[in-house]
Amino acid sequence: MKIVAVDIGGTSIKICLSDEHGNISSFKEIDAEAKKGGPYLIENLIQVIAESYKGFDGIAISTAGQVDSEEGSIIYANDNIPNYSGMNIKGIFEAKFDVPVKVENDVNAAAIGEKHFGAGKEFNDFLCLTYGTGIGGAIVINSTIYKGLNGVAAEFGHLILHPEGEKCNCGHQGCYEMYGSTRALVKNAMELDSKYANGRKIFEGLEQGDTKLEKVLNDWVDEVAYGLVSLIHIFNPPAIIIGGGVMEQERLLVLITNKVKKLMISSFSNVKIVRATLGNKAGLLGAVSLHFSRND
Ligand code: BGC
Ligand code: NA
Ligand code: ZN
Repeated sequence: MKIVAVDIGGTSIKICLSDEHGNISSFKEIDAEAKKGGPYLIENLIQVIAESYKGFDGIAISTAGQVDSEEGSIIYANDNIPNYSGMNIKGIFEAKFDVPVKVENDVNAAAIGEKHFGAGKEFNDFLCLTYGTGIGGAIVINSTIYKGLNGVAAEFGHLILHPEGEKCNCGHQGCYEMYGSTRALVKNAMELDSKYANGRKIFEGLEQGDTKLEKVLNDWVDEVAYGLVSLIHIFNPPAIIIGGGVMEQERLLVLITNKVKKLMISSFSNVKIVRATLGNKAGLLGAVSLHFSRND
């Protein structure tokens, strides 16, 4: 079986072919051009798939936004991808390609990927968070994604941590992702120097000993930790898996763990904070496994 797997984020779209064992080929990453809106993004994606991938048996889509995975539609997406809310992705792709299509929220998919193939293998219960344009979350209980009433549980990026704070793309104020996302880190670093336009450039700057940048990083690590500690205090989870491109930086996990330890009530301290092992392939692989199992 060959599945075309897609991971739609606010910054880029990743696409690949995969078999049921998670063996990936023909990986590509394209600019999401998300600001042009959902309909444009989907049209562009259809063209890329039609041109580059042939003879597949299904499509698996992991996407930012709140997903109705039965309907395969976007219940609500914030302005990271304008005009995306309400789109029936499953219907659009099934009509176009005539193969079964599965759709799931990006971080729910990442958690399923990590559970099957990565850092989640050894845990029945865990939380998963990814840090990128936004912050996404997933709650895994008994090896199954906890969905909540409307299927949209674990929107951790919209925990309100600064009630008087910055306006978020969700329409509210002071959300976690306005302070702890990679985008927030980049925004703050670019206020120092416009050359710090992405995570990689920021970590190069840190290696060269930019002390002001070090301060920006530490403040951001604090914000990341505020969200994590709140979640640890709610769930008392055995493990939290953290992902997103930026977390591939070795030193970050140590900085974050140290800060979390400082802020956390000691009875929670046996929680394991581990890095996603599938890197930016977690969402893709999790989406693929939706074709081969129910949810876990
Ligand atoms: C969205 C989530 C998504 C996360 C990561 C947030 O802004 O509300 O649905 O999972 O970003 O992409
Ligand atoms: Na989620
Ligand atoms: Zn928000």
